[in-house]
Amino acid sequence: MMNPQRILLSSLLLSFLLSVLAADSIIAADRSGLDNYYKYEERIEWFKDVKFGIFIHWGLYSQVGYTEWCQNHFEMQAEEYSNLMSTFNPVDYKPDEWAELFKNSGAKYVVMTSKHHEGFSMYDTEFSNYNIMNSPYSKDVLGILNGECTKRGLKFGIYYSIMDWHHEDYLPRRYFDERSAASADSGEYKAFFKNQVGELLDKYNPAIMWFDGEWENTHDSLETVELVDMMFRKNPSLIFNNRLSRHGYGDFKTPENEVPPTGLFKDDGTPEVWETCSTMGEGWGYDPFANYFYSSRDLIRMLIDVCSKGGNLLLNVGPTPQGEIRSEHRKRMEDIGKWLDKNGESIFGSRPSVFERLPFYGKSTTKGNIVFLHVFMPPKDNILRIPLLENEIISASLLEGNTELDYVIKNNQIQVQLPNISIDENAFVVKLELDGKPSVITYTPRFGKKETMIFDGTAAEIISPQRHTIENIQYYDKILIKNWNEDNSDVQLKWDFEIEYDGRYEIMVHCASEKKLRGEIDAIVAIDTSKIKFIIIEKPRWTATNKLLYEPYNIGEIFMKSGKHSLYIQADTLRKKQSIVFKDVQLIPARH
Ligand code: GLC
Repeated sequence: MMNPQRILLSSLLLSFLLSVLAADSIIAADRSGLDNYYKYEERIEWFKDVKFGIFIHWGLYSQVGYTEWCQNHFEMQAEEYSNLMSTFNPVDYKPDEWAELFKNSGAKYVVMTSKHHEGFSMYDTEFSNYNIMNSPYSKDVLGILNGECTKRGLKFGIYYSIMDWHHEDYLPRRYFDERSAASADSGEYKAFFKNQVGELLDKYNPAIMWFDGEWENTHDSLETVELVDMMFRKNPSLIFNNRLSRHGYGDFKTPENEVPPTGLFKDDGTPEVWETCSTMGEGWGYDPFANYFYSSRDLIRMLIDVCSKGGNLLLNVGPTPQGEIRSEHRKRMEDIGKWLDKNGESIFGSRPSVFERLPFYGKSTTKGNIVFLHVFMPPKDNILRIPLLENEIISASLLEGNTELDYVIKNNQIQVQLPNISIDENAFVVKLELDGKPSVITYTPRFGKKETMIFDGTAAEIISPQRHTIENIQYYDKILIKNWNEDNSDVQLKWDFEIEYDGRYEIMVHCASEKKLRGEIDAIVAIDTSKIKFIIIEKPRWTATNKLLYEPYNIGEIFMKSGKHSLYIQADTLRKKQSIVFKDVQLIPARH
């Protein structure tokens, strides 16, 4: 029999060996980006399905009302700023109503700031006095919301800023900070950080740790590994974002206020897990003077766009210092919720679009054997053209109301007949049920005898390294390509197509040179190997009443044999401040 001391000794030795082993494997995993480590695929699965979350930026800064960076913007000394603790008293805070609102917005998860760059803890922490319990309100606002959210089946995540403008041991100091840096001990700050993160995990068991403010390089590679290890020991199913440090990248990427144009991929081409975090307009924290808010329609379309590219959307609210969610934010969440009530099937659990491009203004997602098509603007003739699929179509219907729709396969497309009524201005969804997983046939539109061919921005292949700077926008019933300027003067818009009969066509362009420095722009339209040089005419800046831009003009004629062709348009040179607004190129059967 071993005596108790020996048992203690050997178990200590064993746990030491285990921790060395674990640290080693994390270091190895760290190098390969934490993939497959701690069952990555299992941990991340739920996150891929939830698609929509609510971000909350709430702190002492909400009282200043100049976003969460106000301490920095106004160059306030930490001590002076900390007076805001004595006035923070959100008497109108109703966490149950907040959680209810989030739930009704359709969101499946919530991420709240526990401590932003200002350094104030919005929860009951034992590691700092600079916390909510020492404010007049003196209630654990984060903890209570966690409870209300969890009760309603919403996953709860915690935002935590590594950068800290209050803690005396955090370095580097802000340029305006008058405190001496000499006495600061970064090691103390790191210990504090680790303690608070551990405490947050122990107390609230969050599903997500959402770090931020990592860019001042607080943690080196080994420290990052130790932190990850500590977090997984406390909660093996935790997920955390890619902002814990500059080393090791976390479980998901976090593009900010931006939807990546084609989704995000690893070097080997496999998809990344990502989440776009976005404000509803201006800053993150409350600003009573904010007067720009995205419309509900924009936000609904942003969510659809994100899903069509395989990401999640974390949409921000900045509550008031009294604890209310401002009406502008409330309204938008309610609108999104109403839309999701009818169309959520096409969002939650969805996977990215199988189509590289769509010949209409809208987006697409998939789920199992189903393809969803989100129509932002119904085509003028009410026929929705969808690239051909290898699959048999079992049914086509409107998701809202489940109405069956007629369709035909024509000109290398699935053509779905849309009803003649306005369905939903935000976006409506056509559901195609297939006999198997959707698989796309390389899509080339095909035209019959004497058909007019219209090539617009939505169906174009945009060839350019800077393709993200070019964008399709909708203006009333028109879709235009904007931001085609000197920064992307090498952009080419290209379309492949097929015609069934030989024919002669007039080439018409709908585009103009706009904005600050006007002037004609030399450009080229090419069909296969024949190039036609033409001049993009100058027009005053486009307004709703300036119809001129939309009168197409003839730049020549071409004869084409039946078969495959490609057409492209490109500027010859774009001078500083010149910019093209592009609508389409049309090939119209010549009359003679
Ligand atoms: C930035 C900002 C911060 C905000 C965050 C959200 O890093 O510094 O204020 O909380 O983005 O992603």
